[in-house]
Amino acid sequence: MALKHQAPRGTRDLLPAEIGRWQWAEARARDVLERYGYGEIRTPLFEDYELFARTSGEASEVVQKEMYRFTDLGERELALRPEGTASVCRAYLQHGLAQQGRIHRLWYMGPMFRYGRPQKGRYRQFWQVGAEIIGTAAPGADVEMIALFVDLFDAWGFKDLTVAINSLGTPETRARYAERLRAWLAPARERLSADSRQRLESNPLRVLDTKDPDELRLLHGEGGLGPMPRLLEVLDDESRAHFEAVRAGLVALGIAHELDHGLVRGLDYYTRTAFEVHDRALGAQSALGGGGRYDGLIEALGGPATPGVGFSIGLDRVLLMMEERGFAPEPTAAGVFIVAMEGTRLVAPMLARALRQVYTVDYDLEARAVNAQMKAADKGGARAVMLLGEEEWQRGEVVLKDLRTGVQQTVSLEGIVEALDRLLLGEPQGTEIP
Ligand code: HAM
Repeated sequence: MALKHQAPRGTRDLLPAEIGRWQWAEARARDVLERYGYGEIRTPLFEDYELFARTSGEASEVVQKEMYRFTDLGERELALRPEGTASVCRAYLQHGLAQQGRIHRLWYMGPMFRYGRPQKGRYRQFWQVGAEIIGTAAPGADVEMIALFVDLFDAWGFKDLTVAINSLGTPETRARYAERLRAWLAPARERLSADSRQRLESNPLRVLDTKDPDELRLLHGEGGLGPMPRLLEVLDDESRAHFEAVRAGLVALGIAHELDHGLVRGLDYYTRTAFEVHDRALGAQSALGGGGRYDGLIEALGGPATPGVGFSIGLDRVLLMMEERGFAPEPTAAGVFIVAMEGTRLVAPMLARALRQVYTVDYDLEARAVNAQMKAADKGGARAVMLLGEEEWQRGEVVLKDLRTGVQQTVSLEGIVEALDRLLLGEPQGTEIP
């Protein structure tokens, strides 16, 4: 039978069997962010279309091709958020956060929406965790951001990641670089795709986003054009000093990083530091996360000149890699399964409700035969079963069976809590990543 409805293309249902891993990854991220002293911010899933058009850049792929844009019944031009930074800056201005302190450290987690062609690691609804520092241009803020970025990956079990970094300088640097790039690519104009030719006119930096293998070869200096011009060659003195300070800060913290001259990021609001982490095992969509400085963004939204720096990490890709690499934790087993007999059928829900104040407890809603209940306990991954034998119950006792060892003990009602504590909480819950 053909189903009438399926989840829209590019979206997924996250079912209970995999949600444990998501919750684990989210909890780990929250722990790290809390320890860094960042405050959580939750902004709407949709905003004025203009907010994103103005900040991400009219020529960016996100705005040109990937925006979920719609008009609501009140004729408002809105868009599902493709990213979080513009919303955070909008909220920062709207609520006058500048008056409540000079520097704000914020984080967010939630779904973003981009109308891309779905493939491995690329979805139309995907999840990001991100952080922003608003209110300081100090290179120390960039360094803290990159340290936090790396520590999040570390908390999820990713080892030996190298952060790629570059500097985009000021808008003038970018304009100067755009000219150089245009001149450099001019002889190869006819070999470029229609998209890239158009970008060469509107915003040459966006040509560097290409995924076309021929164009990539060209950009890597293998197309007879010689080496591609570098942003660092046209950097102004202040941006250069800033970049040196960031790199020195990373060295001091022992954070592995390398220069990537082709790194320009996909959104147009970046200034100075830009960084990314990739994992080639992901294939074409290899970026696990990225970010950078956006010193002009808040001003572009009509606020006072206010510097900012931040990053976002794609949780779908993180989870994908965790599963492929086998360092995703096993979902924690359910706790205890209560098995009732005919004469104790009514006791099971009562006891379950009381014990659920503390423990993970399951029982058979259908009150089937004991054998069926035992099978259900096993299938549900219970650590132990609590048998409510009729005679034992009359005496005020239950039988507890440890399903891993098979050891059985008779416990008085008063002793249940102590026995369950020993059985269920006696050792750390969950599995450590190797
Ligand atoms: P972004 O590089 O556009 O940056 O996205 C960050 C991460 O989100 C990517 O590295 C990737 O892991 C994930 N991602 C992006 N698109 C998709 C997709 N279609 N499917 C699955 N995952 C995806 C930003 O969004 C900036 N707001 C980062 C930032 C914060 N810059 C400064 N502050």
